[in-house]
Amino acid sequence: MVAASGPVRIYNAREVSVMQRFTPGRSIAAAAFCLTAWAAQAPAQDHSQYEPADIEYGRSVYLERCAVCHGEDGDSVAGVDLRSGRLRRAALDRELIQVIRNGIAGTGMLAIDLDTAEMTGIVAYLRNMTYEVDVASLGDAARGRAIFEGAGDCLSCHRLEGRGLRTGPDLTRIGSMRPLSALRRSLLDPTGTMRPIDRPVELVTADGTRVTGRRLNEDTYTVQVLDDAARLRSFDKADLREFRVIEQSPMPVYGERLDPAELADLLAYLVSLKG
Ligand code: HEC
Ligand code: HEC
Repeated sequence: MVAASGPVRIYNAREVSVMQRFTPGRSIAAAAFCLTAWAAQAPAQDHSQYEPADIEYGRSVYLERCAVCHGEDGDSVAGVDLRSGRLRRAALDRELIQVIRNGIAGTGMLAIDLDTAEMTGIVAYLRNMTYEVDVASLGDAARGRAIFEGAGDCLSCHRLEGRGLRTGPDLTRIGSMRPLSALRRSLLDPTGTMRPIDRPVELVTADGTRVTGRRLNEDTYTVQVLDDAARLRSFDKADLREFRVIEQSPMPVYGERLDPAELADLLAYLVSLKG
């Protein structure tokens, strides 16, 4: 199944260790296969079964209901590190749900009443915390930064701490805005992860001026655009000669350009961008 398509790739030691981390207990051959799948799209052993929207919601539930004892980073209760991936009483998701629902008798961990959406979110968020620590420890943020500023050419479209262009969103705080799984998806499938509102637009005004930028808001009569010079502008749609919303992301598919170790480095760097 490994040699299904394409030339055989020789993986270096670091890539192999990355693969083994993502696919514990599997042979290298199987890991190589899974990793090809990982790079191409849906990974076997990552946390992509958790929806980014659930993870984001779960983070807000966590901060409201759990952080008071467990701390924002999940390691404030002595002997418990919620990010570690080694929860004594909650290795499986259903055990985690039991612990939250029933509490732990005789300890400060009281039963917590959450509705289904909150519970789904909190499980997704806690599992994603583990995954973030995993990737952050297996990628190298410093190398990721070099890719970001160098070969990856991200600043040709993104702002970061006041540098770079504005074709894409500002990434200065992206590590606290999006879970790792969403960041990874953005790199592997930029078009599929475009946010409906945040799309590039091209328009021509009544006097023939061409404007390109990103759509921030649109209603029946008007559209608000952040133009390429970072001016916020509003247009009456009736006055426009042309108005085009671009459906295809201009962002390259980095799963094809970077090897798995480079992707891990880049992700470790993006996760670290907390503003
Ligand atoms: C009032 C303080 C408090 C709050 C609030 C709290 N916890 Fe806990 N939690 C604890 C303590 C103390 C322990 C350790 C119990 C022990 O001695 O084993 C614990 C243990 C746990 C464990 C077991 C860890 C393991 O290693 O098996 C999980 C999982 C957990 N908490 C999740 C949560 C989640 C999720 C929330 C929010 C929905 C939450 N807790 C809210 C105090 C709290
Ligand atoms: C040719 C322009 C271009 C380049 C180069 C580019 N991006 Fe993007 N990127 C975009 C645009 C535009 C978006 C907004 C949504 C869309 O159109 O995909 C975006 C979206 C993103 C997002 C999602 C942001 C969010 O709010 O969720 C991330 C993360 C991202 N890019 C990271 C990178 C990284 C890292 C690099 C370099 C390795 C890079 N981009 C290179 C144009 C680019």
